[in-house]
Amino acid sequence: MEIVILENARQVCATAAGIVKRALKSKPETVLGLATGRTMELVYEELQEADFSQAATFNLDEYMGVGPEDAGSYAYYMREHLFRHVNLSQERIHLLDGMTDDPEQECLTFEAAIKKAGGIDIQLLGIGENGHIAFNEPGSSLASRTRFKTLATSTIASNKECFPGGEPPRHVLTMGVGTILESRLCLLLAYGRRKAQAVASMAEGPLTAMCPASALQMHPRTIVLLDEEAALQLKLVDYYKLAYHQKPERLKYPT
Ligand code: GLP
Repeated sequence: MEIVILENARQVCATAAGIVKRALKSKPETVLGLATGRTMELVYEELQEADFSQAATFNLDEYMGVGPEDAGSYAYYMREHLFRHVNLSQERIHLLDGMTDDPEQECLTFEAAIKKAGGIDIQLLGIGENGHIAFNEPGSSLASRTRFKTLATSTIASNKECFPGGEPPRHVLTMGVGTILESRLCLLLAYGRRKAQAVASMAEGPLTAMCPASALQMHPRTIVLLDEEAALQLKLVDYYKLAYHQKPERLKYPT
């Protein structure tokens, strides 16, 4: 896991977008794993100028019982923040269908589509305050595949603002931890003080299902982009800063 501590949230998002843009330039048919949440909004704003004409995308998760016209759905989020601004072809956008009446089949079909696309090249990830990635809540198997999950009460509370006038659904479909670990590059972003504890558990805590993000310690190529506040509880902060600062310029990340 490479930890890069940047000055502020804007730099975190610009750096993530820079890595994705560079990938799209060198391999236009890049397969992207996309995340939702407040963390990603600026990333998608920065990506609106990129060429997605040959790219394919897979979204991490979706709420059950909400359709793409529901403003709380991740399908709606993606359309508003990215898809309607770029030239992605409709048939290469993959979203889990929260309205399915056969969740098991929906998840199997999704996994098969990832395989058929040749796997995910870059998986964007945020992190929940309880250490979840996608909607893999604490207790999730670190080998899990795309499946039906029940949200933790704390996750429902922190995502409440996305459902004005109602509670977020309790049930979701989510890519599994094992599925995420198969991505060739994982790019996890976090900023703000409220993420500091989850970030420390992920990077420096034990490898445990109690913090599903800690599974990334076993991933061969994960870049973690943080602002100073999200890095506040890390023990090796000086080392991470030194290591990035002293990297050869050509190995640093574009913004
Ligand atoms: C949400 C999503 C995750 C996201 C995380 C953090 O519930 N399912 O994919 O990374 O929680 O969200 P935010 O970026 O809004 O803090």
